[in-house]
Amino acid sequence: AAPVDYQSESATIGQGVVESNHAGYTGSGFVNFDNVTGSYVEYSVNAAQAGSYKLTFRYANGTTVDRPLAVTVDGGNAGTVSFPGTGAWTTWVTKDLTVSLTAGVNKIRTTATTANGGPNADKISLDFSGAADTEPP
Ligand code: GCU
Repeated sequence: AAPVDYQSESATIGQGVVESNHAGYTGSGFVNFDNVTGSYVEYSVNAAQAGSYKLTFRYANGTTVDRPLAVTVDGGNAGTVSFPGTGAWTTWVTKDLTVSLTAGVNKIRTTATTANGGPNADKISLDFSGAADTEPP
């Protein structure tokens, strides 16, 4: 199955605004994190079963400075991802992180770790096809 998309503009936003002034985003816009440490976007995702899944972030960073995000799943540390410059705010690229999810709803929060805030966040995608499961081969 194709990865499942979760649009940033539909997520819970802590210090950030939905904008649509830089072309190339999917959905109806993207989140412009406030330029402060601690600004965040939190996505609610639903996993049919517990497992390790590939999480893909689609973002743009028109500066030359990395804008890392700390990732938590239901409050537990899931790692920090770097989001280096992409060359332009209209150049959207992806970064991957493997995350462990429990069955049911998981809150994936991405929080800026520097005073520059996060990159512009288009969406995350989860590839549920890689999960260990109980179906016959
Ligand atoms: C510019 C850009 C925004 C971006 C911001 C930033 O204002 O237009 O989309 O979020 O820079 O540096 O965070």
